[in-house]
Formats: sequence, structure tokens, C-alpha cells
Amino acid sequence: MELTEKVALITGGAMRLGRAMALGLADHGCNVVIHYHRSADEAHQTVGEIEQLGVKGWAVPADFNSDADLLNLIPTALQQAGRLDILVNSASIFPREDFFTTTPSSWDQNMQVNLKAPFLLSQAFANALPENRPGIIINLLDAIAMRPKNHHFAYTISKVGLEGLTKAMAYALADKNIRVNGMALGTILPIDQHDQGVFDRLARKIPLQRTGSPEEVVKTLLYLVQAADYVTGEIIRLDGGKHLV
Ligand SMILES: NC(=O)c1ccc[n+]([C@@H]2O[C@H](COP(=O)([O-])OP(=O)(O)OC[C@H]3O[C@@H](n4cnc5c(N)ncnc54)[C@H](OP(=O)(O)O)[C@@H]3O)[C@@H](O)[C@H]2O)c1
Repeated sequence: MELTEKVALITGGAMRLGRAMALGLADHGCNVVIHYHRSADEAHQTVGEIEQLGVKGWAVPADFNSDADLLNLIPTALQQAGRLDILVNSASIFPREDFFTTTPSSWDQNMQVNLKAPFLLSQAFANALPENRPGIIINLLDAIAMRPKNHHFAYTISKVGLEGLTKAMAYALADKNIRVNGMALGTILPIDQHDQGVFDRLARKIPLQRTGSPEEVVKTLLYLVQAADYVTGEIIRLDGGKHLV
């Protein structure tokens, strides 16, 4: 897809990987709507950086724990930006818990934010797309969901669900010319500065012997959006070979 005059909505786009993907698309001529939950200042700052690249940007809030917020997000983004061509489902929660410590409430929140939100947003996005206009949905998955283990338990299962959702939506939306793909990330960014030591140790266990970078995530996103016109239902692993060990 040629990106000039197109509009992408990036959920969780104020900071970290969402911000990197937003700026990457903007740098290639795409206008971008940044969805945020708590990071209002960062979202507006990212919109400023997007506009410095010569394209348009908007910031729209929504709490994905609320179905009402979720159902409002696509109409609000359309009202602001006038059109939507690309949806990147990146917002996520990542609570530390195992099989035994996962509570009913944590289970529900993981399924809500990491799985139900991408479903409801994709459904609204597809319904709003004018006939004969191509669309693109990209879901952010996790390499650990490809080989589930006993940590970040409900998060992992939500991302297993998101893999299924990606493939099911690719099939359901193919005849509307909406391509749906996923990126299953390995170790890209530490959770915070306290996590840096663990993060560095993890790097030594990765077959390519290093962590990945936001720039590599952006390059893969640009491939899926700009070049992969005949690719749908695909999950690209960006994990330095972590899924092999
Ligand atoms: N970072 C990595 O190394 C890595 C590895 C594997 C997979 N991934 C996947 O890649 C994606 C991006 O990763 P990341 O590390 O950049 O994500 P992140 O920082 O953990 O979260 C992204 C955003 O999700 C939003 N969010 C959280 N709860 C929300 C809620 N209730 N409603 C709406 N938005 C909510 C937050 O927005 P606000 O800040 O505005 O509140 C947050 O900034 C995620 O889907 C993640 O699972 C990342």
C-alpha cells in the first residue's frame, strides 16, 4: 500500500514500540492517529513529532477495560482524521503471574485489553472501511505465545488467542481486501530500567545472541504494510530465533 494520504490508527501509540511504529509510518508519508490510555502528555508529544515529519497526527484516548470506550474509538478516530486505512493493535498489558497466581480479575483484564480490544476495533474498522478500499490490520503478538510457558500466564494465553484471531480475521476479511497479519516479538524493550539486568541476561539465551530493536520492528511493519500485498494470515516472528530453543 502506498502510504501518502493514508491514515493509520496505532493503539498504545504514545510511547515505546507503539510510538516507534507511529513515527515509522509517518516518516513514510502516512498520517497517524495515536490512541492512548494514561499517557496523554506523551501522546501529544508524539503527535508533535509526527507533524514535524510533514504529515498529520491526532491523539485519541480510550480505556480498553471499557467496552463503551472501545466502541467509540474507531468512530472518534474517523471523525478526527476523516478516514482509516491501517489499524495497528499494539496496546497491551503484561502482568507478572503464573498459573497459580493468576486471579479471575487479571484473567478478565488480559482477555479484555489484549484480545477483545483487537477484535472489537478490527470489527469496527472493517465495518467502517468503504467498499473497494483496501485495509490493513497488524496485530502485535509475542514469541512466548508460540511456545507457552508458566509465566505471564493470562497474557500468554491472550496472545495465543490473538494468533487465532489474526488468522480467523484474515480469512473473514480477505474478500473485502483487508489483509490481517501479526508480528510475534521476542525480546525488544525491557519493561523498565529495573528490568535491564534480566533483559541483558535474556539476550545471551537468544540464538542470534542479542535483543531486537524498535527499528527492526518498524522495518517489519513497513514490509507488511507497503510490500506484502499478497500476504495475509501470516505471523512473522521477530525474535532472533528464540522460538527454536
Ligand atoms: N516490548 C517488547 O519487547 C515486546 C515483546 C513481545 C511482545 N510485545 C508486544 O508488542 C506490543 C507493544 O509492546 P510495548 O512494550 O510497546 O507495550 P507496552 O509498553 O507494554 O504497552 C503499550 C501501551 O498499551 C496501553 N494500554 C495498557 N493498558 C491499556 C488499557 N486499559 N486501555 C488502553 N490502552 C492500554 C498503554 O497506553 P498508555 O501508556 O497510554 O496508558 C501502553 O503505553 C504489545 O502488544 C506487546 O505485547 C512487546
